Order: sequence, then C-alpha cells, then structure tokens
Amino acid sequence: MTSRIIDGNALAAQVRGEIAGRAAALSARGVQPCLAVILVGGDPASAVYVRNKVAACEKAGIRSLRFDYAADAAPAEVMAKLAELNADPAVHGILVQLPLPPQFDETAVLEAIDVAKDVDGFHAENVGRLSQNREAFLPCTPHGVMKMLESASVPLAGAEAVVIGRSNIVGKPMAMLLTNAGATVTVCHSRTRDLGFHTRRADIVVAAIGKPRFLKGDMIKPGATVIDVGINRLQDGPDAGKLCGDVDFASAQEVAGAITPVPGGVGPMTITMLLENTVISAERAAR
Ligand code: GUN
Repeated sequence: MTSRIIDGNALAAQVRGEIAGRAAALSARGVQPCLAVILVGGDPASAVYVRNKVAACEKAGIRSLRFDYAADAAPAEVMAKLAELNADPAVHGILVQLPLPPQFDETAVLEAIDVAKDVDGFHAENVGRLSQNREAFLPCTPHGVMKMLESASVPLAGAEAVVIGRSNIVGKPMAMLLTNAGATVTVCHSRTRDLGFHTRRADIVVAAIGKPRFLKGDMIKPGATVIDVGINRLQDGPDAGKLCGDVDFASAQEVAGAITPVPGGVGPMTITMLLENTVISAERAAR
C-alpha cells in the first residue's frame, strides 16, 4: 500500500488566498491587519522562521513590524516594547519568537502580551480557554494540523489518536484540540515506556519529537493517518544537509493510509494559521 499524501503547500495556498481576501477587505475599510514580530538573539532556525513569517504577511496584504534584539538584550527593554505594542491600536497581533535567551523568563514574556493580540495562542488565558473548549487564539502548528486532518476528511470522533511530544507549543495543545474533536488521545513522550505499543494501535499519529526519521513504518498501524510536525536538518549520511521530519517517510508511507511530507506538510500550515489569527484579531478591532 502506498499512502495518500496530504499536501500542506496546496492547502496553505488555498487558505492564504482566503486570508488575503479578508485582509484586503479590512484594508479597504482603513484597517490593514498588522503583525508585530519580536526576535531576540541570532538563533539561525528562529531567524529563518521569522523571515518566513514576515514574507508571508507581505504576500497576504498583512503589514508586519519586525523588532530585533541582541542575544544579551535586557528583558526590561523587550517588556517595554511589548507594552508599547499592546497599547498601539494599529497592531493586531504580537509574536515573540521562541526560544528566548536564558536571561528571559519565557512565561513572563508571554503573559505580557495582550490576550487579544496573542496570535500565537501561548498566553495562559488562551491556553486555558482552549482546555475548556472555548473560543481562543489557537496555537498555529496544532491548529494547522487540525485543518489538514479536516481537509483530508480524517474521522476524529471516536478515533484513537497518539501525540508524540508534550511541549506547550505543539504536543499539549494538539492533544487538547484532538480531545475537543472527540478523539481518544494518548500523549507519549521521551519517558514513555513502550512507544510502539501506543503508536501501533493509533488511527492518527502526530509526531512532534524533534528526532529525524524516528517513527518507522513498523510502528504504524496499516491505514493510519500520520502527521509529521518535525523539521530536522540531517547532519550526516547520504542526505546530509537535507530537511526531514520526525517520521521515516520511506517506510511509513508503505503502511500509512495518509501522510504529510516534510517539507511541504505541516510547516506551511503553521504560518497560514498565524496569518489567519492576525486577520481575525484585526476583524475584531474593526467591528
Ligand atoms: N518557536 C517554535 N515554534 C514557534 C511558534 O510557533 N511561535 C513562536 N513564537 N516561537 C516558536
């Protein structure tokens, strides 16, 4: 069996078209959606993510403001910028790229963002709202995964879902979204005793582990839907320098019913959801 590929680029292009239309309608009313992005330090992966986010904004007709700080920046300086952006009615979304350098209290920074502008969905109030299945800004990666599952018509109610990874950014909110959608969710992580026992009984596996090509075909139930959140750059071997996911695509696609590729899977949907949250925030401000 060869699995169906869930094409994140195609879905992202379609959804970004709709978002650009909404952004244009807002701009015509004098409210151009605006996202402020803060990057602290020179982490190369973070720099690429921020560049991609800013470029995606421009393409969708969303204004972006970018603020770069040195790795040794004083937290108070960034906090002052956040206060300024919170108070600026022309700014609809605020994003602080993670991780932050060690002198920062990450939680304090995320809590300093106005909940109404928290387009990453990392503020404790938005996390709490999600856990209660209330309206909230949803974290972009897990939200993008839900859109992909929906677009591929993957049944969620009653499905056995396994999320590998328990981060605040992906694993935990992913588990909550799947739970809210009626799936029976197991969260696995680095301390899980027998990962294969769990993954082999799952109708849906979401891999957010951070280990290249970790999940092999023999750990997947035939016909399952496999969502690969990982983005790893291979260090050595014949594919050194190439991007790959947390799933061993070659063996997994022999077994899975549907699978997302890397690149071209979840990645483009993550940024798309950020654009959508920014437009939603601007639509609320324009009411
Ligand atoms: N670092 C890794 N993923 C993310 C994300 O989705 N948002 C932010 N702000 N930082 C990240």
